[in-house]
Amino acid sequence: MAQSCLALAVCVLLVHGGAARVAEAASYNVGNSAGWDISADFPSWLDGKSFFVGDTLVFQYSKYHTLSEVDEAGYRNCSTASAVLSSSDGNTTVALTAPGDRYFVCGNELHCLGGMRLHVPVSEPASPGGAGATPASPGGGGALSPGAAGDAGVPTLDLGGSHRVTVGPAVATWLCIIAAALFVW
Ligand SMILES: *[C@@H]1O[C@H](CO)[C@@H](O)[C@H](O)[C@H]1NC(C)=O
Ligand SMILES: *[C@@H]1O[C@H](CO)[C@@H](O)[C@H](O)[C@H]1NC(C)=O
Repeated sequence: MAQSCLALAVCVLLVHGGAARVAEAASYNVGNSAGWDISADFPSWLDGKSFFVGDTLVFQYSKYHTLSEVDEAGYRNCSTASAVLSSSDGNTTVALTAPGDRYFVCGNELHCLGGMRLHVPVSEPASPGGAGATPASPGGGGALSPGAAGDAGVPTLDLGGSHRVTVGPAVATWLCIIAAALFVW
């Protein structure tokens, strides 16, 4: 009995601690080989991509460009007045920590008007079956942490951003209980 309890305890640790570590976020190089540049075609780059909480965007750019994260109005009118992030180091990594819309522009208004702007919609990771879908919580960062997501959260394993393998915590828990039972016999 003590052994099965120990096995269960180990399993609980694996389910609640290990799941978060298994989740590996997708990293996107914005603009592919062109990078964050006036020559890149960002609408084409965005086409077919889905972004999830936990993913990251990597912006690489020359000294002629900068990166500002702005609000929707700033994105529409190419203004950095509302900037919440401004960077000019040529290599900026942006973490997508919460669901919602993110907007990026080049700080040079002419470059922005010429196409250097990006609207990235960020979603919660999909839940299999859809029954336990959690409502999007604005500002609720770190949705992959087991504590925040609870049983409705789904740990995801990202393979290059296009293939996602999901393992429900409930399934893992049952496998553990079965394993613990076998341990006793
Ligand atoms: C453009 O957007 C910024 C950021 O929201 C805002 O401060 C500014 O007033 C807007 N300008 C115009 C002309 O709409
Ligand atoms: C950009 O920064 C990341 C870390 O933020 C680093 O791993 C990567 O090597 C850098 N790339 C270049 C081209 O400097």
